[in-house]
Amino acid sequence: MINFEYQNIKRFLPNIIPAGIVLVFLGGFTAYGFVRISSLNKNIGLLQTELASTTALLSQNTTLLAQSITDLRSQTVGLSNTLTSAQQNIDAVKTQVGGVEQTVGTISGTVGNLQKLSMTDPELLKKYSKVFFLNENYVPAHLFNIPEDYLYSSLRSEQFLAEAWPFLKNLFDTAKANGVTIYVKSAYRSFAEQQSLKSMYSVVYGAGTANSFSADQGYSEHQLGTALDVIVPGIGGQLEESFDKTAGFQWLVNNAYRFGFELSYPKGNNYYVYEPWHWRFVGVKLATYLHNNKLNFYDMDQRDIDTYLANVFD
Ligand code: DAL
Ligand code: ZN
Repeated sequence: MINFEYQNIKRFLPNIIPAGIVLVFLGGFTAYGFVRISSLNKNIGLLQTELASTTALLSQNTTLLAQSITDLRSQTVGLSNTLTSAQQNIDAVKTQVGGVEQTVGTISGTVGNLQKLSMTDPELLKKYSKVFFLNENYVPAHLFNIPEDYLYSSLRSEQFLAEAWPFLKNLFDTAKANGVTIYVKSAYRSFAEQQSLKSMYSVVYGAGTANSFSADQGYSEHQLGTALDVIVPGIGGQLEESFDKTAGFQWLVNNAYRFGFELSYPKGNNYYVYEPWHWRFVGVKLATYLHNNKLNFYDMDQRDIDTYLANVFD
């Protein structure tokens, strides 16, 4: 019996051994597989735990970030409101400063004008010619001897108010540059000169006629030193109405205002005959106003004229 078994074992032994080895290997592999799976499971567990904690952290951080963004937004809104109110304050201060500057400017302008006015002869823009009167002692503070080049005749010197001379010189020089030749026939006349002239005219023409073209002493614009009679060559040296047919007159009508001059006695005035040759300096501002509005000096109210006095030499 025992022998039989031995015999069987002996017969099957060559098969049993490799099968055993295979079994052992399989067992080993299986065990190894279990160990690996167990280890992998453990790792997965760890990773899941880690993932869960990372997710929680991320969610926490996201919440914090959202909170921070909200805070930042509200701070930005606050800052923007602060900036807006600061800008409003700056604007308000600017407006106040602007107002103060304007007031200071107005005050200094007024002071400047008052200063100018205090240094300007109050007679300069008065309506002479029968309305205002200059006595025999009135002589302009500064008289300038007009250079001979500008005079029609060198036999008699002519004077003009020194402060107004640059304007007259500019007028004559510009006319010359424009190809227009005009000369000064008569400018400043003292009270005494006007008196003797008027007496002479009254004798020659009779008082009535003389009154139509010559002012009494004390009433002539010539005594101010700012009026002049203009003449052109070729009309016999006489102050005639025909002067208004000359290019010189036309040039004066179109340009004299730019230098501060106006025509005191135009056609149809209430004072004297038409005197196209007689021009008076009243300042660029007033002369321009008269020219642009087609007004005559003597048609203006004296109070309105006086508002131009401070700037008469501007
Ligand atoms: N010929 C002007 C009016 C004067 O004598 O003043
Ligand atoms: Zn005159």
